[in-house]
Parts: sequence; C-alpha cells; structure tokens
Amino acid sequence: MTKGGLYPLPVTPQLMMAVGTAVIGSLQFGYNTGVINAPQNIIEGFYNETWSNRFSEPISQTTLTALWSLSVAIFSVGGMFGSFSVGLFVNRFGRRNSMLMANVLAFIAATFMGFSKLAASFEMLIIGRFIVGLYSGLSTGFVPMYVEEISPTSVRGALGTLHQLGVVIGILMAQIFGIESIMGNASLWPLLLGFTLLPAVLQCALLPFCPESPRYLLINCNEESKARSVLMKLRGTEEVSEDMQEMREESQKMMREKKVTIPDLFRSPTYRHPIFVAIMLQLSQQLSGINAVFYYSTGIFERAGVSQPVYATIGAGVVNTVFTVVSLFVVERMGRRPLHLIGLMGMAVSAVFLTIAMALLDQLRWMSYVSIAAIFSFVAFFEIGPGPIPWFIVAELFSQGPRPAAIAVAGFSNWSANFLVGMCFQYVEQLCGPYVFIIFIVLLLGFFVFTYFKVPETKGRTFDEIAASFRQSAGAGSDKYSAPEEFSTLRGDDPDL
Ligand SMILES: *[C@@H]1O[C@H](CO)[C@@H](O)[C@H](O)[C@H]1NC(C)=O
Repeated sequence: MTKGGLYPLPVTPQLMMAVGTAVIGSLQFGYNTGVINAPQNIIEGFYNETWSNRFSEPISQTTLTALWSLSVAIFSVGGMFGSFSVGLFVNRFGRRNSMLMANVLAFIAATFMGFSKLAASFEMLIIGRFIVGLYSGLSTGFVPMYVEEISPTSVRGALGTLHQLGVVIGILMAQIFGIESIMGNASLWPLLLGFTLLPAVLQCALLPFCPESPRYLLINCNEESKARSVLMKLRGTEEVSEDMQEMREESQKMMREKKVTIPDLFRSPTYRHPIFVAIMLQLSQQLSGINAVFYYSTGIFERAGVSQPVYATIGAGVVNTVFTVVSLFVVERMGRRPLHLIGLMGMAVSAVFLTIAMALLDQLRWMSYVSIAAIFSFVAFFEIGPGPIPWFIVAELFSQGPRPAAIAVAGFSNWSANFLVGMCFQYVEQLCGPYVFIIFIVLLLGFFVFTYFKVPETKGRTFDEIAASFRQSAGAGSDKYSAPEEFSTLRGDDPDL
C-alpha cells in the first residue's frame, strides 16, 4: 500500500462531483455506441414499413442494408467532425461551458431519433445519429481534457480512467435497455434511442455547480484569484501554492510560444514525437480489433449454442466494466506503459486462442467454450490498458498550449480508425473467414513493439516535466526529427504562422 491508504492526496467531494458530471458525456458516447446493435432487426422492420408506405413498393435488401449501414456508420462520421472541432470551443468558451453547450446537440439528436417513428421518417433517425455523433466526438475531447486539468497529478491517471468507465457503463446500459422485454421492441425502441435526453438534462443541471478548469482560468484567461479559489475548493485545502506555482511556470513557458495550430504539431520537432505517439496509441485502441470482437461475438455465442446470445453479450459488457475498474485502481501504481503493454500482449494471446478455436469449431464442439473464454479475456485485457489509456495520455503528453490541437488530432485519428474497422470488417471477414483475427494479432504485436520503444511513462509527472522530456529527446535526436532552424528553439513571432 502507498502511504495514507489508497491514494496519498484527498479526492474531495467537489472534485468527484466535477469529474462525475463530466463523465456523463462519456456515458452518452458509450450509450450511443452500443444502443443501435440490439434492436437492429426491429428498426430495419420500421425502415421497410416506412419505405413501402411511402413509395408503395417493398424495399430491396440492398437498399435496406445500405440504409442500415449508414445509420450505424454516420455516428462515427459525426464523431470525426466533432472531435476535430474541440479546439474551436475549449479556448473560447472554457472547458466547462463547452461541455454545457454541447448538450444542445444531445437534445436535438434525442428529439430527432425519438420522434422518427412518429414522423415515419428514417431520415430523422439518420440525422439524429449524425448529431449525437458530433456530440460524442466533442465529448471524447472535452471530458478527458477537463478531468485531467482539474485532477491532482497523483490521481490524474485514475480519474482519467473514469472517462473509459463512463463509456463502458454506457455500453452496458444500452445492452441491458436493449433487451426485448425492456425497450428493445417494436413499440418502445424510440424511447431507447431518445433516452439520451435524460443524461443530457442531468448534465445540464449539474454543470453550473462544477468549477471551470483552474488551468484554463490561470493560463488562458490570466484570472489568478479565480484560479486559486477554484483550486482551493477542488483540493479541499488552502495550501495550493505548489499547484499554482506549477501552473504559473507552464503559463510563462506558454507565453513565450505562439498559439499552436494543428499543422504546427507536425512541423515543430518538439511536438512531432508526442503527436506521433498520441496518434499511434489511438490507433492501437481501435485497430486492436475490439469492435470486431463486439460485432463477431453474437455470431460466436450463437454457434456455441448459447440460447440467448444477448445475455452472453451482456456478459462481455460486464467483463468490460469490471476490468475498467481494475485498471482504475492499478494505473497509478503500475503506470501507463506496463498496463498498455500487458493489455496489448494479452489481447494478442487471446486472439491466438480465438483464431484456433474458431478454426476448429466445426470439428470440436467444445472449442466454442474456448472461444467464449478467449473473447472475455480479449475484452478484459483491452480494458486494462488499450481501452482507457489512449484517451487520457494525450492530455498528459502536451502542455496547455498545444493540448487542444493535440486532442483534436488524436480524437480524429481514433474516430477515423473506428469508422474504418466498422466499415471494412465485414468484407475482410468474408475474405478471411476464421483467420480474420490474424490481422489484428499482427497489428497488436506491432503496437506492442512501438509502445515498448517509443511511449514514455507519464505517471506522477507534471505536464511540464513530460513536455520537457520530449524537448530533450527532440534535441538529442535532431537527425531523426530534423526540422527548420526556427523550430528547434522556442519560436519567435512569425506572422505567417
Ligand atoms: C419487408 O417487409 C415485408 C412485409 O413484412 C417482407 O415480406 C419483406 O421480406 C421485407 N423486406 C426486407 C428486405 O426485409
């Protein structure tokens, strides 16, 4: 045990309240990721019926498949746009108010989706999915940023994990609500989709009682006394001079730099290494095959003779949630790097077992149980590292100046890879059959090697210390990260940039 119980620093009620309110945004993202899977046949029936009533001819199977794929995938397209727009909001309106404003999107989306049946319009459902995707994309930027900026260094990773916990609880809620006897039936599915209104109302009611990020107040707005009073509330102590000092130092460094735009991240040698790490970590999350497993699982559970595959899928959702909690409790003790490495390797090994089991499924019936076990362990290892860590490590790799741009780039990479896997997996699977996971095994091992050599540990270090370590490595390896002269020192006022 560490000194003073689980964590040495107090996690005050104010801090928990602010973090808890923020992660409602993560819950919304998870809910809307999972909600559309269970009622697929029912909503397809609605599309079919609406189509025949409107055009007086039956819908063709191709049109129905295309409309359904669009309804699913347009969520990720919204997510790409949303995540890319994070930087437009956070510095102008602040972190908290950005989260508050984004809820307008959740209200509109819930209305469109909830009333699509009444209005006999599948277009409304598709538009609603796009808008809730926009909201989710914004949330995947806002929430980790806000949580990181208000957390004390010693529990920053643990609280950062709560974003992923919100996501997996959202998925689990969607799976449970989607059971036929609850809301996954022909009359109640509009409520299932419109449910997203309730968390939005709750978040709007609670956010006004949450403080603005003290880092934003001090570094972006130069409001020293406000920042101090917010910090005193969040830390539950008058003694905040150390935190203030750390922020002031970061602020001074930032004032000497210019505003960092997205192209700057790739031009400057100081940022190029961390942004590369951030993008690769996002890709390691999405290209690990986790979503492929979630799409594939129902089929495997069916073949394994599980009479109600939906409950096995919920079982996977529970494993998902439990192991996110495990990660929450070990991330500050073991660090980010080891957990990410263990997670990637565990997923690769599980995928080997899954491939063997799926290949032998027809010869050996008991292989179906091996495949269930392999799926559960695949999911468990995902939530140990590759699930939660990429979301919050991006905010840790950058200081206040480049952080919004970096989070936008990382979020965009994540959502694009998500979209890619969602769109391509079915086709690749038709091509490779049970050997489809070999692709993911190769990718996982590649990401393992990358993490081992390139990803620094960020546990217990201030944002500035982390940034400084990248500056050093950029200086030392200048042959590798060669760049124009003006970028290798702190940049002056260049009017074209
Ligand atoms: C649409 O519904 C009709 C009537 O229920 C059904 O016969 C037909 O197979 C459905 N079309 C598709 C593409 O599912």
